[in-house]
Amino acid sequence: MKHKVLEVNDLTIIYRTLEGNVHAVDDVSFSIEKGESLCLVGESGSGKSTIALAIMRALPPNAKILRGEIILNGKDLLRMDEKEFSKIRGKELSIIFQDPAASFNPLFTVGETISDVLKYKLGINDKKKIKEIALRALKEAGLPDVERVYNSYPHELSGGMLQRASIAIAISVNPSLLIADEPTTMLDVTLQAQILETLKDLKDRLGLSILFVTHNLGVAAFICDKTLIVYAGRALEYGSTEEILKRPLHPYTRKLLKSVPRIGAKREKLPFIPGSLPDLRNPPRGCIFAPRCEEAREICFKVRPKMLEYHPGHYVACHKYSEGNWG
Ligand SMILES: Nc1ncnc2c1ncn2[C@@H]1O[C@H](COP(=O)(O)OP(=O)(O)OP(=O)(O)O)[C@@H](O)[C@H]1O
Ligand SMILES: [Mg+2]
Repeated sequence: MKHKVLEVNDLTIIYRTLEGNVHAVDDVSFSIEKGESLCLVGESGSGKSTIALAIMRALPPNAKILRGEIILNGKDLLRMDEKEFSKIRGKELSIIFQDPAASFNPLFTVGETISDVLKYKLGINDKKKIKEIALRALKEAGLPDVERVYNSYPHELSGGMLQRASIAIAISVNPSLLIADEPTTMLDVTLQAQILETLKDLKDRLGLSILFVTHNLGVAAFICDKTLIVYAGRALEYGSTEEILKRPLHPYTRKLLKSVPRIGAKREKLPFIPGSLPDLRNPPRGCIFAPRCEEAREICFKVRPKMLEYHPGHYVACHKYSEGNWG
C-alpha cells in the first residue's frame, strides 16, 4: 500500500462574524500520497485558503473548526498541542504563498533567512553545512547565481526570483508536504509558467508531495495528479486530474473547464460562470450549486447530494449520478 502523507476527513470550518457564521468549509475530505500532488480548484471564496490555513494551523482567531481530522503521517494535527505542532510547522509542513515577501523578513538577507530555518527547524549548527544546503536549495529552485541571491535582501530580488527563493526555503527542510497557495498569481504569465515548471520538476525529482491551491484548472492539468473541485466550501468532484478533465461529471466542473484560462495566455482571466457564490452565512438547503446550475431539478434544492464513487477513484456529489434520484 502507498504511504498516505496527508488525510483530511470531514473538515468543517466556520468564521464567526458580526453578521453571523460563515460556513467556509463544509465536510471536505481528500488525501495525498507520497510523491503525489493534489490541486484544490475553485472560484474565489470557495474555501481553498481556509483549508490550507487549517492544515498549517494558521487560521485567524475568528475561525472555528467544528469537525474533522487533518492527519499528517499518521498524526492528527488538530489534536496535538502547540509544542508538538511547532516541531512539524516549517519542517514536515512547508508553505509558499501568493506573495513571496510573506516568507521573508525584509531586514535579513535571503541567506540569513534560510540559515535560520535550517538552524531552528533542522537543528543544524555547522555554518558551512548550512550554507551548502541553502545554496543547493536555491539552485534546485531554479535560481542562477545563487551566491549573489544568498547575499541579497528581499527587496533586491524581482518577484519571480523572490518566489523561487521562497520555494528554496520551503524545500530546504525536505518537507513531507509542500502547500502552495496560488504561488504564481502575482507573477506575470511567462514567469508563472516557468515557476510551475520548476515545481513540477521538484516534485518529480525529489518525490515531493504537494497541495496546490488554484482557481485555474489549466494549472491543475499541468502539475497535479489529483484534483478536488471545491465550491462555496463544499467538495463537488474528486479524482485523478486526467479523469476529471477527460470525463468531468459535475455541472460546475464542466463550466469551470469551459472557462479555463490558458497557462501563459496574454491576459489571465478568472473563470467566469454566470451568477455568484451563495451567501455562506445562510447556505442553500440542498445542493450548494443548485441556484447556479442549469440542470438543477426539484430534488437539488431540497436534498444535499452525497459524494459518491461514480467510476473507480472518481467521486462526484450530484443527484444526476445517484440512482433513483434523477429518473
Ligand atoms: N477572517 C475571516 N472572517 C470571516 N470570513 C472569512 C475570513 N476569511 C475568509 N472568510 C470567508 O470564507 C470564505 C472562504 O474564503 P477563502 O479565503 O478560504 O476562499 P478562497 O477559495 O481561498 O478564495 P480566493 O481564491 O479568493 O483566495 C469566503 O466567503 C470568505 O469571505
Ligand atoms: Mg485563497
